[in-house]
Amino acid sequence: MEKFVIKGGKRLKGTVRISGAKNAAVAVLPAVLLADSPCVIENLPEISDVTAICNCLEALGSKVKYLDNTTVEIDPTGVNSFVVSAAMAKNMRASSYFLGALLGRMKRARVAPPGGCNFGVRPIDQHIKGFEALGAKVSIENGMVEARCQKLGGGSVYLDVVSVGATINIMLAAVKARGTTVIENAAREPHIVDLANFLNSMGANIMGAGTNVIKIRGVEQLNGTTYSVIPDQIEAGTYLVAAAATKGDVTITNVIPKHLESIIAKLVETGATVEQGDEDVRIYLKGRAKKCKVKTMPHPGFPTDMQPQMATLLATADGTSIITEGVWDNRFRYVDQLTLMGAQVQVDGKTAVITGVEKLNSAPVKAVDLRAGAAMIIAGLMAEGTTEIEEIQHIDRGYEKIVEKFTALGADIKRVTDSEAGGLFKAN
Ligand code: EPU
Repeated sequence: MEKFVIKGGKRLKGTVRISGAKNAAVAVLPAVLLADSPCVIENLPEISDVTAICNCLEALGSKVKYLDNTTVEIDPTGVNSFVVSAAMAKNMRASSYFLGALLGRMKRARVAPPGGCNFGVRPIDQHIKGFEALGAKVSIENGMVEARCQKLGGGSVYLDVVSVGATINIMLAAVKARGTTVIENAAREPHIVDLANFLNSMGANIMGAGTNVIKIRGVEQLNGTTYSVIPDQIEAGTYLVAAAATKGDVTITNVIPKHLESIIAKLVETGATVEQGDEDVRIYLKGRAKKCKVKTMPHPGFPTDMQPQMATLLATADGTSIITEGVWDNRFRYVDQLTLMGAQVQVDGKTAVITGVEKLNSAPVKAVDLRAGAAMIIAGLMAEGTTEIEEIQHIDRGYEKIVEKFTALGADIKRVTDSEAGGLFKAN
């Protein structure tokens, strides 16, 4: 097993280039199944979730060719299977997008329930509601989600909860359906807009992505295209928070600053100075961070996927901060790990009260999920002494070259195997 070993206490300084967005890539790649000819997808992040989706596309019968580390050519013309097995689906949440994409392509999909981060129950009732509104029958058979129909027609769907996944899945199923589909109370995340742009560049007719009403006029055919995925809002936010947490001075490049507004607003409240360029953002923080209140919400609110990282920064802020989780039922599982490092956090339901301490101490901790793992790295960078982080496979799902990027900013972080680690865990 691999671990990260971090010697904390160094201020991050320098420039880091942000990779393509995980949550856009994992929607755009399955959407290639809807094309009648090959697509080239550029600016993909080099992360294990992307590899998993590409493997899945290959297993379904697509030809997948890596043109370089971040560009892949996918020819979906030979796809002959509608089954995504449990082995293929187990490690990623986005496997559910194969339901919408295969339904749109083959009018039939059998997909194992998705894996991914554990935030308590992760229902797909809104996805199913959408498929049914388009005329599909959905059932659970032998532990697999089965969706099928003779033909897909347009339909109106009001989402009872704002769901990124349901919005994407309904778009995928509706884009080649006969007639017009309207999704109300749709999610507005940047990756929803990116998927719509990708589908439109293939010949789809999608309007309103980025607002809460999306209208999709079904088209007969989608053609292959070349498309570049947007930069990763959450990777960008993670480096901004890490910079502030280490009282550093960091410029992130290849970003869309508009996507970072809610994150930047909170960082400014903590006392950071933020300078925005066209495609870059510089942040620096002098002195101790100030307390603040954060409530996570669907876009354009503060992203839930930045909540653990922000809580970590606030762990050493001056004063008491309050974080309210407005998206997931159970996204404070990382708090136990943070308290091992000396943070003072009280969780009551969906609220965490963080009493800022002077400093964090190193400790052996775990990445309980992807963003929790990023938070542990930030905590390790802030802490005095050597921190070891276990279960880093969660982090590899979503952060490209994280050791290399933090090292280039002056951090002392290494990826080691169990036998090379300093023995912090063996002592326990
Ligand atoms: N929900 C339902 N029914 C559904 C779908 C969702 O009740 O059918 C609820 C969920 O339980 C949750 C809320 O709606 O309380 C929002 O869930 P959503 O469907 O938006 O989440 P998701 O599509 O499963 C994506 C990201 C997550 C991110 C959430 C919220 C991807 C692959 N995943 O998940 O990202 O936390 O949106 O923004 O896009 C991450 O990148 O670390 C990550 C977990």
